Amino acid sequence: MATVNVVVIDPESPDPSVIERAGQLIREGRLVAFPTETVYGLGASALDAVAIARIYAAKGRPASNPIIAHVSTVEQARSLASPWPEVAEALAKRFWPGPLTIVVRKVESAPAALTAGRDTIAIRWPAHRVAESLIRAAGVPIAAPSANRSTNLSPTTAEHVSMGLGGDVDLILDGGRSWRGIESTVLDVSVERPRLLRPGPIGPVEIEEVIGPIERPREGESDAGAAGSPGRFPRHYAPKTPLELATDNDAGVQRATGMIEKGSKVGLLPLGAMPRPFDASLTVVTMPRSPADYASDLFASLHRLDAMGLDRIVAVMPPKEDNWLAIRDRLLRAAAPAQD
Ligand code: TXA
Ligand code: MG
Repeated sequence: MATVNVVVIDPESPDPSVIERAGQLIREGRLVAFPTETVYGLGASALDAVAIARIYAAKGRPASNPIIAHVSTVEQARSLASPWPEVAEALAKRFWPGPLTIVVRKVESAPAALTAGRDTIAIRWPAHRVAESLIRAAGVPIAAPSANRSTNLSPTTAEHVSMGLGGDVDLILDGGRSWRGIESTVLDVSVERPRLLRPGPIGPVEIEEVIGPIERPREGESDAGAAGSPGRFPRHYAPKTPLELATDNDAGVQRATGMIEKGSKVGLLPLGAMPRPFDASLTVVTMPRSPADYASDLFASLHRLDAMGLDRIVAVMPPKEDNWLAIRDRLLRAAAPAQD
């Protein structure tokens, strides 16, 4: 196996010489995985079609699924958009740097490889010093999907990246844990009525406070059509271990215990502390009761359970409330049956 080049970097004050070297790799058309506040990204120059092709190859990503361009100024975002609408300006002002991806019409010159041939482009300014300084050092916007193989769980640590993509990455910057823990909210403002394409850390209510009413997809809707976000296949963000959902902790324990009695190894993700004693052979990873803390732990917990060789994971669904929208979305997708 090829050895992976992992360099530890301080997320608060990244070593400029490491960043300079990483920026140079980006300029040379190589792949650099880097931390953001949401998940780790697999980066290449957003202006280099050949480098972008390497991202698709490393991920095994369908060519029809476009990639987010990461910027470190609003000016840089404007340079990729035509037009850059008022609503985008207002959203950027309120939420950038941060976990909101804005879809706008693209400038002619943005590579078709980046946008999968669409006339729109997704843009985000990540709130992470390593990501921001890397984009500045590269001197170009950085194309970066989550640094996992297509349909697998997104990575929230450098270790997840090296386990999933290993030798296919030229450099992995290890800046510790991605604290938001789930991918950015994706909002399309290229259409008359702005449309939520992927729920994420920034909720619809917060967005509506800035730009007024937006379209929201129905929960669990696949939304993979031409108008939607092509990455939104029903099964996404999935662990290798089959995952099913339970309505509450009691139902989860009952379901898990039933499977254990039949000889299965089961992991359970209850919401908050377990209400009563449970079978000692049940692996329990207690999930926080606050949506932000839950998000921060979700993929790390699934990665951990996935490494245990279990037969099944049972996750307890959080309530059907606005502030749990993104978590419910990720859990529904993780539980969706594989497509092939
Ligand atoms: O938090 C994040 O967004 C992370 C970090 C690395 O920034 N990135 C990420 O990228 O999650 P990715 O490629 O795993 O997900 C990007 C999503 C996909 O669902 C993709 O289809 C959608 O954004 N997308 C990208 N460009 C688009 C476009 N022009 N129109 C509609 N959807 C687009
Ligand atoms: Mg992804």
